[in-house]
Amino acid sequence: MKPVFLIGAGNVGWHLGQAFHRAGIPIGGIWSRNPDRSAALATLLDSRPLASPMALSGKEGLALIAVPDRAIAELLTAIPWQDIYGLTLAHTSGGTPMDVFPEGQSGVGVFYPLQTLTQGFPTDFSQVPVLISARDPDRVSILAAYASLITARVVPISDEDRPLLHLAAVFLNNFVHHIGIQSNQILATRQLDRTLLLPLLRETMHKMETTDPALLQTGPARRGDLTTILTHLGLLKDQPRLAALYRLLSSSINPELPI
Ligand SMILES: NC(=O)c1ccc[n+]([C@@H]2O[C@H](COP(=O)([O-])OP(=O)(O)OC[C@H]3O[C@@H](n4cnc5c(N)ncnc54)[C@H](OP(=O)(O)O)[C@@H]3O)[C@@H](O)[C@H]2O)c1
Repeated sequence: MKPVFLIGAGNVGWHLGQAFHRAGIPIGGIWSRNPDRSAALATLLDSRPLASPMALSGKEGLALIAVPDRAIAELLTAIPWQDIYGLTLAHTSGGTPMDVFPEGQSGVGVFYPLQTLTQGFPTDFSQVPVLISARDPDRVSILAAYASLITARVVPISDEDRPLLHLAAVFLNNFVHHIGIQSNQILATRQLDRTLLLPLLRETMHKMETTDPALLQTGPARRGDLTTILTHLGLLKDQPRLAALYRLLSSSINPELPI
């Protein structure tokens, strides 16, 4: 298999680089706007830093663009399009459409790992779904061949469906994280032990894996227990933003609530 090149050395570059490195695929080079980061990742992956995206010129294999979504379009202006015929070039974003790539370029696609990835927190990549798309069916096959080296779950996906999966993932991961932060801050107001809530957290996640969460909802909003809801809002009287979030979520659970 030809090498993988990484454009971006953040969370996703770190994880995908390690997954391919472990699978025995050479990492041909790494570019990052911060040269210290590309140098550090290159050392970890027996690779070398690239001076600029222009260094992809004449290369063969797979180049993964793992920079923040807002930076992808600008970064693509630095790609040596006239000289990358041997490369398949893919971004790793769930929320960025294929048409971010210049019109007429056929060697492009998306290689989106549907997982929350944080540098320094190892993940079992073999269980991470990789959602792939490309303009050219041959490139779908190439992306699938690379993805299947690092995961058991390779899923071709349309440009219409990918942002919906990304949106669902934002609710399930980013918003749940945010709720976890609120929960911790409430406990911290009186130094309460957060490990008391860990069995609840585990049970919530465990049951949601196998059962429609619509069948699992409990709590004061679901029961229409206005007395408890007003007690909670009283506890949040000095935190108007959190009280507003509590109201919004409770009303979303039970639109009949007079709050
Ligand atoms: N993290 C996740 O959980 C996850 C999961 C799936 C897909 N994705 C997607 O993967 C992509 C990368 O995400 P990430 O979490 O790896 O991002 P990240 O850690 O914030 O940054 C990735 C890299 O992009 C560089 N960068 C930042 N702004 C840039 C700019 N304006 N121009 C050029 N390079 C820039 C960073 O350089 P510096 O070191 O200088 O900041 C870093 O090397 C995004 O499209 C994201 O949607 C992320």
